[in-house]
Amino acid sequence: MAQMAQQHMAAAAKPDWETFARSFTFERLPADFHENPYPYYAALRTHDPVHRLDEEKILVMRYADVERIYKDPKTFSSDKTIEFGAKYGNSPLYEHHTTSLVFNDPPLHTRVRRLIAGALTPRAISEMESGVVDLVDHLLDQAEERGAIDLIDDYAAAIPVEVIGNLLQVPRSERGPLRGWSLAILGALEPFPSADKLEEGNAAVRDFLDYLAHLVADRRARPGDPDKDILTRLIQGEAGGERLSEKELLQNCIFILNAGHETTTNLIGNGLQLLIEWPEARRRLIEEPRLIRTAVEEMLRFESSNQLGNRIATAGFEMGGRVFPAGTQITLCIGSANRDPEQFPNPDVFDIARHPNRHLAFATGIHQCAGMNVARLEGRIAISRFLRRFPDYEPSAPPVRSQRVRFRGFTSIPVRLR
Ligand code: HEM
Repeated sequence: MAQMAQQHMAAAAKPDWETFARSFTFERLPADFHENPYPYYAALRTHDPVHRLDEEKILVMRYADVERIYKDPKTFSSDKTIEFGAKYGNSPLYEHHTTSLVFNDPPLHTRVRRLIAGALTPRAISEMESGVVDLVDHLLDQAEERGAIDLIDDYAAAIPVEVIGNLLQVPRSERGPLRGWSLAILGALEPFPSADKLEEGNAAVRDFLDYLAHLVADRRARPGDPDKDILTRLIQGEAGGERLSEKELLQNCIFILNAGHETTTNLIGNGLQLLIEWPEARRRLIEEPRLIRTAVEEMLRFESSNQLGNRIATAGFEMGGRVFPAGTQITLCIGSANRDPEQFPNPDVFDIARHPNRHLAFATGIHQCAGMNVARLEGRIAISRFLRRFPDYEPSAPPVRSQRVRFRGFTSIPVRLR
């Protein structure tokens, strides 16, 4: 699929790509954009790598520029009060996103980040391993009995909900609504969400807050082990340090519960779909299972679950030969940076042994994904054990892509298991 689009790009006349790049807008995407955005990203990277979306907004496509922005949080702030004020008005979605650590600068960011990082130490993560293996093997047993499954609903989506549920020690019987809430809240982050999507997102924040108020009250009464339970850690705060306000606590719990769901589901789904599209890579991974580490990094680079990031400039800056004022709103295209030939030789080749592979799928700098090693663990276990059990799995119907630009993945990948 990716190769076909590459050929199509090579065949297309150059001026068309230039015209496309200069007039690009997220409001009018080409019909096949969701299927394969990479030729379009390449056109932007080549012809207009720092692209004006409107008077106040730019889209940044090159690896070096995206990395520079992530690494300079003073000039490029994560504060979203202006952008989300315009997008969500005074609403639960506004309250939620503007209170979560990812959309804040220090000091709120630093306080919450330290508490989360303290519960995600390498030791805590390696202790999760046997639980993830048991969960995955149980799902594989069920899949074997059925002979055919949907890789998303019956496998990829079933793993992160349990892992994140364990991290916050949400009782098993109460995990049912978590994925739906998460999809609704993150869906409203699309560049142009419809009124329905906004309402779904707002309703999900309201329901989530109601639920968490009970969970937090219960945990205050019966604290868990703060070395493993992020919720207890967030409630107790740092020894001798500041505590989070109730609003900060609840909104950041929602963020953590959301952050690891769809992204990790998509890592597993995108990874298993890539092994369908690139049979040589699949064969090699079966023959050399030790390549699973570099394979997962390549899956993250090649089909990044999170394609876009955002920042706002606190001071004027120069980029791509032009000067932009303070207040400029910036969309960073992670998906494009990860295919930039200046950084990755043969970027459109899926190479499971690629090394080095300094992809930006988890961003970089002070906001770099706090759960990246949890996601990597889930990805490695889910993909390697699936492949060991069903080396010849094959599609039983065409996969269905979720039609989103920010979060890249599938809603369905039906397969026969062999
Ligand atoms: C493949 C899976 C994942 C991907 C691709 C991913 C990607 C990202 C990215 C790009 C950011 C930076 C956003 C920005 O600054 O604009 C981020 C932040 C974050 N992620 Fe992940 N993530 C994944 C899984 C997870 C998991 C499993 C967890 C929790 C266990 C998690 C928790 C977080 C948190 C707490 C932040 C905020 C960090 C901060 O602002 O300092 N993520 N993630």
